[in-house]
Amino acid sequence: MIDPLTVSRIMDAARIEEVVSDYVTLRRRGVNLIGLCPFHDEKTGSFTVSPAKGIFKCFGCGKGGNAVHFIMEYEQVSYYEALKLLAKKYNIEVQERELTDEEKNAQNDRESMFMLNDFARKFFTEQLYKTEEGQNIGMAYFRERGFRDDMIRKFQLGYCPERRDAFNKAALGAGYKTTYIEKTGLAYANDHGQMTDRFHGRVIFPVHTLSGKVVAFGGRILKKDNKIAKYVNSPESEIYHKSNELYGIFFAKQAIVKQDCCYLVEGYTDVISMHQAGIENVVASSGTSLTTGQIRLLHRFTENITILYDGDNAGIKASLRGIDMLLEEGLNIKVLLLPDGEDPDSFARKNNAADFIAYIQQHQVDFIRFKTNLLLQDAGNDPIKRSQLIQDIVRSISVIPSNIVRQVYIKDCSNLLDIDEKTLIHAINNLKIEKKEKDFQKQKSEEARQATAANETDKSNEKPAETIPDALQATTLTTASKFESIEREIIQTLVRHGEKELYVQPETGEPVSVGEYIIHELEMDGIVFNNPLYMQIIDEFKAHCHDEGFVAEKFYKFHINDKISQLAIDLIAEKYTLSKIHYKTGKKPTEIDQLHESVPRLIYDLKIQLIQEKQKQLTLLLKQAGQDREIIAHLMQLKKIEFQLSKAAGRL
Ligand code: CTP
Ligand code: MN
Repeated sequence: MIDPLTVSRIMDAARIEEVVSDYVTLRRRGVNLIGLCPFHDEKTGSFTVSPAKGIFKCFGCGKGGNAVHFIMEYEQVSYYEALKLLAKKYNIEVQERELTDEEKNAQNDRESMFMLNDFARKFFTEQLYKTEEGQNIGMAYFRERGFRDDMIRKFQLGYCPERRDAFNKAALGAGYKTTYIEKTGLAYANDHGQMTDRFHGRVIFPVHTLSGKVVAFGGRILKKDNKIAKYVNSPESEIYHKSNELYGIFFAKQAIVKQDCCYLVEGYTDVISMHQAGIENVVASSGTSLTTGQIRLLHRFTENITILYDGDNAGIKASLRGIDMLLEEGLNIKVLLLPDGEDPDSFARKNNAADFIAYIQQHQVDFIRFKTNLLLQDAGNDPIKRSQLIQDIVRSISVIPSNIVRQVYIKDCSNLLDIDEKTLIHAINNLKIEKKEKDFQKQKSEEARQATAANETDKSNEKPAETIPDALQATTLTTASKFESIEREIIQTLVRHGEKELYVQPETGEPVSVGEYIIHELEMDGIVFNNPLYMQIIDEFKAHCHDEGFVAEKFYKFHINDKISQLAIDLIAEKYTLSKIHYKTGKKPTEIDQLHESVPRLIYDLKIQLIQEKQKQLTLLLKQAGQDREIIAHLMQLKKIEFQLSKAAGRL
């Protein structure tokens, strides 16, 4: 955790134009700077940087944000990591929050393991470059495989000596503890209790996290030997969960975003060879089927995946089921079968990037079509096999979240399988209903479990003192999304003008700010916005509006909570809609001139909308319940309030 003071120092120092120009060439245009968007392919610049506002915005792809958001997006790192990167750029010492003892221990463990892995990575590369054994055996192997020096360096490949304790002796000598050597799995105690290097006599492929830290290693034997495993890999540990990592993601992430597609291959060597050929949007599942964690990781960067299969891959059929998971996550899946006898590694060494990509473009097929054809070949005319196949395809189609995409497939498969579209739709819907029922059951038991806990903490039923009784509260809770637009407009006003003086209180002579007025009005009537993020913005205002030099726009734009700052930037960048006032003179009043009229009007609008909604509900109730006196009385009261509000709003 970085403490808030340091965060705000980083935010102040990080000038948007400086941060962006580390990555993008910017030209000045008026008050703004303009360049080619790094987040999508474009030929003319729609990527705009506003130094005055401290934000960037691409009018091509819609991405926008402050300096921290830019780093997050570009480097594909977390908010926290982005702040640290900026702190480094601006030489700001990062003060982190004190951790609890428990957190400290856990962190110490993890940190020690990462440090040891880093030591190991350096050790393995030094062995490769600087020892005779490393050169003669390790480097010779890489060269023979055709790996270029720049790739060997980029992927931080290494070599672990034959001697069984070379690494662990070195690590112990450098002060690393045996527990961490064992926890990372870099060495283990053999049957005689001697520490043995897991990777001895192997070339090393480090596995990097999304942010480039080494979490694990893969070690390959050098000779063909059917008795020993070709690869050994680091075991699962506190820092390494195989199912959450994808080999190559650190080196691929920018290219994936830029190309908006990712190639999925099997092995370490496939990734490296494709990079060497100039194709960088590629990751490997490391020989196992994909997990949901890995799919979600990929989904952060793109929706388009092409799976590359070896020409003679026997495992294709086994992998089909796993691919349904990709579909379920809403990804668009294509499949490419390489020519006979080729894998991505060998194919990349024979073709340059342009040829390889052209080949992919021409030969990749849509997954469902691919699967259908593959299974059709198998089934032949066997009716039982055919009906199994149809079930199978129907299942794949049924998990696709997009209606439109499903429809396209139904058409396609109806042709391919020579079945009526209606029959397919019927089968798919049946499966979907089955799934819904299952999900519903799951959800119900989950809700039952949480109900007790929630009841204890839920105090939202307490009603504050109010001028317009429970009418408003009840409405906000039931039909809330109807009010999204007016809620948003009010929050927009708070973010843009919160600290500005709206009027002076006649009794006390105290100035009342726009934000204070808005919040007072809402609280007086017990109005709670439906959108929880808006409520957070209001709470933050209350907590900080009296801070020295508080300026709402700046405060929110650089807010430590990423969701808040992102929303604030959208609200600031958006065309301001608060201009419904009719003015008679030719001169257009500025936004600020209008505040003392427009802000109360917004509040009235909201209240009128809430009252009208409540009336609608009561009228409905009246129809069902018959002529209930109480309801009628309540309705009339609401009518009166609406009338008063409309008058006050100047509508009558
Ligand atoms: N793999 C593994 N353990 C094995 C075999 C394979 O962990 N015994 C994983 C590795 O991550 C490997 C991937 O599965 O990269 C694909 O296996 P394979 O195609 O056999 O290996 P390649 O990486 O292609 O290696 P090479 O080309 O050197 O044979
Ligand atoms: Mn291979």
